[in-house]
Amino acid sequence: MISMAKDYDLVIPESKAGELKGAVNVINRRQFLRYGFNTATGVLAASLGVLGFASILLPPGGGTAGDLSVKFWAKGREDTAWYGSKHLQTMTKADFVAEAAKTNTGTSGASGVWNGVPVVVTYVESSKWEGSPQDNNKARFIMMEGYDESGKYVGHFEDMVAQDERIYPSDDLIMVFGRCTHLCCIPGWQLVSNQYTDDSWTPGGTDDGGTKLFCICHSSRFDTTALEMNTNRNRSNGSTFKYAGVRKAGGPAPVGLPLIPIVLNNDVVEGITDYVDWLTYCD
Ligand code: FES
Repeated sequence: MISMAKDYDLVIPESKAGELKGAVNVINRRQFLRYGFNTATGVLAASLGVLGFASILLPPGGGTAGDLSVKFWAKGREDTAWYGSKHLQTMTKADFVAEAAKTNTGTSGASGVWNGVPVVVTYVESSKWEGSPQDNNKARFIMMEGYDESGKYVGHFEDMVAQDERIYPSDDLIMVFGRCTHLCCIPGWQLVSNQYTDDSWTPGGTDDGGTKLFCICHSSRFDTTALEMNTNRNRSNGSTFKYAGVRKAGGPAPVGLPLIPIVLNNDVVEGITDYVDWLTYCD
């Protein structure tokens, strides 16, 4: 079984520290769910000026206690993003399927907010093409080997799926934590139009083809169809941890972005909270 720490370090905002007497700097998973968006506020405010993301911070629990559904986030892009009219509405698979049908690649993506933290959800017609040759523009999820920043082999995505099958994309959907591993900007979907965000797909997690998740700050690219195991580092205490995520395709980011496993609940996309310790690298 995967070893998952029950406690992990997060910087608690001063305004909340008094409510967590005796637990300074160490909060458990349940507390993360309550305070997650607040703990991120400082960095969000610094890195999200472009998007104004900090201004959307939702009430604890995303508005309803125990509400783990994912909401669309299109603040400032209501007139340009395909999901602009759905800003802060609950994400459903049907939304993505309808949008993907308009593309060459059968993929669609959207920025979102889950429990107050930024996320990106991608839909890929993966099950339609499984078992067929990996031709360009026949996009599907590909499980791959992972190599850390130094090039050292870490492991295979399949190894993590074997330990917890919930990690595998659910119903052709995948969700990643939306904080860049370079300097923690928030790579929304798709904030810019360039060769990395074109409506094209090439297999193998390379930097070819478009449909990349693009970080607008320093141009890091992530292939949300290339799934790997990798390692990352908590910036505060230096500890390293393995995670399942999507591959970095190019740019200065050291590694890819971690998954937040999801389930569908009556077609509504909901995040699973078991792996929130993978999200701590920007703390
Ligand atoms: S913060 Fe994303 S590329 Fe620098």
